[in-house]
Amino acid sequence: MRRLPMSRMLMSMLSIAALSSAALLASRAQDAPPATAAASPPPYTVQDGNKVDPATLEGWKTWRALACERCHGAEQEGLVGPSLVNSLKVLSKEDFHTTIMNGRPDKGMPPWGGVPMMQKNWEGLYDYLKGRSDGAIQPGHLYPIGAAQ
Ligand code: HEC
Repeated sequence: MRRLPMSRMLMSMLSIAALSSAALLASRAQDAPPATAAASPPPYTVQDGNKVDPATLEGWKTWRALACERCHGAEQEGLVGPSLVNSLKVLSKEDFHTTIMNGRPDKGMPPWGGVPMMQKNWEGLYDYLKGRSDGAIQPGHLYPIGAAQ
């Protein structure tokens, strides 16, 4: 097929554009973690087992303020309520949210949806309990990352 010079020029411009966007995609792909990465990164950041990011710290404070340990144990190991170290291995974040907000009053778990501190910090609380469940966060007092102890 014969092409006019003008259309040939257009074609080569197009192919340059296609090549450079392919190169861009390739370099982006290199930045991304490998598709085979085992699990998504944890929702918390922890150093030395007891220094955590601000959201996780607020989650821990909420745990303390609302005295969840009365029923779930000071180390989340379970008392009249189940061990949350075990629960958080299987409970989805969505189910966690529903359980915390609505409770399971028929089974002895109170609802916390009306508590402003919980409304504000439930995600940090999830992060904290996830860290406990993973064994990455120690039981007991937590500190902000960067704080002198
Ligand atoms: C008065 C006792 C009591 C208190 C206080 C309490 N819980 Fe519970 N919680 C329970 C019981 C009992 C269950 C188990 C309900 C069931 O059998 O489904 C439960 C279940 C849960 C579950 C679901 C576990 C699972 O495996 O499905 C989560 C998460 C949870 N509690 C978190 C909390 C948090 C966070 C607090 C503090 C804000 C808290 N609980 C305070 C008694 C309590």
